[in-house]
This record gives sequence, C-alpha cells and structure tokens, in this order.
Amino acid sequence: MNFKDLCQARYSCRKYQNRPIEQEKMDYIRECVRLAPSAVNRQPWRFILVDESQPELFARVKETYHRDWINDVPAIILCMKVESECWTRRYDNKSHADIDLAIAIEHLCLAATEQGLATCWVCNFDINQFHDIVPMPEGMEPVALIPIGYPADELAPKVRKAMEEVWQ
Ligand SMILES: Cc1cc2nc3c(=O)[nH]c(=O)nc-3n(C[C@H](O)[C@H](O)[C@H](O)COP(=O)(O)O)c2cc1C
Repeated sequence: MNFKDLCQARYSCRKYQNRPIEQEKMDYIRECVRLAPSAVNRQPWRFILVDESQPELFARVKETYHRDWINDVPAIILCMKVESECWTRRYDNKSHADIDLAIAIEHLCLAATEQGLATCWVCNFDINQFHDIVPMPEGMEPVALIPIGYPADELAPKVRKAMEEVWQ
C-alpha cells in the first residue's frame, strides 16, 4: 500500500469485531507511535491501552463518551499529554503538546490501518467526567480516546474540501 492508499484506507470506524489484536501488530503500532516527531523532541506523551483485561477501568473510560457505539469497542488507547514536558514557544507562550500528540496519534491511526485494523479519533468525551471517574497519573491530561480493533463496517466515501479550496 503506498502512502496515498493508506490515507484513503484510514477512516473513522464506529463498529468493531470482537476479535483480539495480535501482539505483533500492537508492538508494530507502538513503535510507529514512538517514532513520531515532536517539538524540540520533547515527546510529551503517554499512551495506555485499556480493554476487558481491566474491566472496571474500561467501563469508566467508555462512560465518558456518550455514544452507544463505544460500548462495543474491543479496546481503547488513552492518549495523554504531559504539559510539563512539552516545548512552549517563548514569543507567545504557546504549548505545542496538542500538536505533538496529534502527530503521534495519527501515526497510531495510520499504522493500525496498514495492519488491517481500524480506529476512530474521539475527542468529544466528557473531560470533566473523565477527571472525576478515571484515575490519571499525576501531570497527565487526556487528549483523545482511540478505539482500536478489527472493523465490522465498510469504508465510507471520503468527504473533503476541493483541492483548490485547500491549496491556494
Ligand atoms: C481531532 C479529532 C477529533 C475527533 N473526534 C471525534 C469524536 O469525538 N467522535 C467521533 O465519532 N469522531 C471524531 N472524529 C472523527 C472525524 O469526525 C472524522 O475524522 C471526519 O469526519 C473525517 O472522516 P474519516 O476519518 O472517516 O475520514 C474526530 C477526528 C479528529 C481528527
């Protein structure tokens, strides 16, 4: 698969098979995430895969995203930033943690797609509820929840702005 085909193949999957992910595939994805670039190479990120092996934690994480489809996902990767580790631009104090996380998370999604798996970015979870019910290590802030698994639906046609609108 060339890179454009990979970009076409990645989509937001909201229906998954109840099938475990092979360890080698997860290891491959983990390494692709680890190799992501970040501002001043600070790598201000941490990731935790949560699934039925930790049923109470898994249930709590799913509770923070108020959509029915999340109940049937086989696993969720918690993607967290560590603000104290990130690079901040001194001219305007802009933290680059969210940018760094976005790059690493998209590495995750593309690597998963290449391995025949599917993912979906989920940022619309209830952050206040998350802080109330999901134990987080000190200094970490969840940026996205990424369900991951074998897809049980089909790739939908891509809806995107026209080339001329995007590239000016
Ligand atoms: C930063 C970000 C946050 C997103 N949050 C959600 C979300 O909370 N729930 C959801 O169902 N999809 C979410 N999405 C998926 C987008 O809706 C999806 O990427 C977009 O509609 C394009 O569709 P595609 O991913 O299938 O190409 C998010 C995507 C991004 C990049």
